[in-house]
Amino acid sequence: MAFVKACALSELEDDTPKRVELDGTPVSVVRTEGEVFAINDICSHANVSLSEGEVDDCAIECWLHGSSFDLRTGKPSGLPATRPVPVYPVKIEGDDVLVSVTQES
Ligand code: FES
Repeated sequence: MAFVKACALSELEDDTPKRVELDGTPVSVVRTEGEVFAINDICSHANVSLSEGEVDDCAIECWLHGSSFDLRTGKPSGLPATRPVPVYPVKIEGDDVLVSVTQES
């Protein structure tokens, strides 16, 4: 699986998602609770950018209708979204945040 650099670790603020595009895939990179997560940036309910939502309790909330997606699994916690959003493996090397969008975890 190919890891590519998404951003620098030092660029990430806690609970503030950063949108990046990796191999044409929009990804929201989130630092929270001492870990870094990568989740597809598009809500599974409609074409809305999740990185514009709020992060709380290891989940990212879609700002449009309020479904929250677990950053570890991509699963929605409640309606209206019913399908998970892909999440991707993350590696930290020095100050580099590396994400593999070729394999969903
Ligand atoms: S667009 Fe995200 S919950 Fe509706």
